[in-house]
Amino acid sequence: MEVTRVPVSLGERSYDVVIGERLLGEMREFAEAEKPTSSFIVTDTNVGPLHADVVQNAVVANEVFTVPAGENSKGIEQLARLYDEVFAARQVDRHSLVFALGGGMVGDLAGYLAATLLRGIRYVQVPTSLLAMVDSSVGGKTAINHAAGKNLIGAFHQPAAVFCDLHFLKTLPEREYVSAIAEIIKTAALSGDELMSLLEASADKLAAREVDSLQRVIEACVRFKAQVVAEDEVEVTGRRATLNLGHTLAHVIETAFPERYLHGEAVAIGTAAALRLSVERAKLDPEVATRVVALFGRFGLSTVVPENLEAARALEIMEADKKRTGHVLRFVVLSELGEAGALPCRLDDALAATLLGRSHA
Ligand SMILES: NC(=O)c1ccc[n+]([C@@H]2O[C@H](COP(=O)([O-])OP(=O)(O)OC[C@H]3O[C@@H](n4cnc5c(N)ncnc54)[C@H](O)[C@@H]3O)[C@@H](O)[C@H]2O)c1
Repeated sequence: MEVTRVPVSLGERSYDVVIGERLLGEMREFAEAEKPTSSFIVTDTNVGPLHADVVQNAVVANEVFTVPAGENSKGIEQLARLYDEVFAARQVDRHSLVFALGGGMVGDLAGYLAATLLRGIRYVQVPTSLLAMVDSSVGGKTAINHAAGKNLIGAFHQPAAVFCDLHFLKTLPEREYVSAIAEIIKTAALSGDELMSLLEASADKLAAREVDSLQRVIEACVRFKAQVVAEDEVEVTGRRATLNLGHTLAHVIETAFPERYLHGEAVAIGTAAALRLSVERAKLDPEVATRVVALFGRFGLSTVVPENLEAARALEIMEADKKRTGHVLRFVVLSELGEAGALPCRLDDALAATLLGRSHA
């Protein structure tokens, strides 16, 4: 299949997301045209040994900096280490270029590094996880975590380019791959019938990582995200916030059961919950909810809230949500496939019963 380019149109911050298999030639051309004074790759201990060499050769990067794999590296400690290493290498100036080679963790960390080095230098996203290809590498949100919460320290800093090389997905662990499909299905619910139908028609091929199907699906997700980001780059109109469909209950589940669920697995459960809420309070046709839940099922993604999550505990976690106003939290709901909005909901037993999928006495 041909290489595709999806433009992210943001005036002088515009860039292309390049999607295809084996993009080293495209990366080389880009690096040659940029003519950076120096360039370095940030990666993690899983991805680095597998893929950093070829990328370094292609883009002629001076250094490869490697952080331990895992969400724990997305914090001030590894960021400080990276600043130390970059300055010790004495090669960074305003025309240096950073390559973020890895999943969303590396993308967010290296993106924030680039946003803050010398008040902001250019960087390139080279996502290697499916989640990073369809979501985190596009849109310029960069951040690190703090003990007080995830992504609390960050900046909007758009990349200069994104290269989604499907070849990298060959080494992605199965559970990470399937978990990212949950975010893709969430995107389909938000974007409408076209992507839903594409996923339904190509579910088996997608599960088998068939390259043509993957490219089509990644392209559709990136096009959708690019459009949302172009409409609401820094999250002021509420349009970009609709991408958080299913994320409130996902956050509850991840908080109540640390380490048990991958983010996408929690998003599958959270999206099904948000659709129950949509049926009840936003007039969503129940058949749409059933259709989306069935699609999760085709990839073996559970949409059932764990039995031992009690309503009181779920409400307690939502009460601690920073986005809450009084006892009200805004939920992303669908009125129909592809039509999302925000619905303020009182944090009470009735809400918990709907979200958890249990009857309310
Ligand atoms: N900036 C945004 O808009 C945005 C959006 C969504 C998520 N995120 C962030 O993204 C992160 C999650 O991203 P993720 O799911 O990619 O997690 P991740 O980066 O931790 O990657 C998941 C695991 O897969 C490994 N991996 C990645 N690519 C691989 C490959 N090709 N071969 C072998 N192993 C590979 C990683 O080393 C890691 O162990 C979170 O920090 C989240 O906050 C950011």
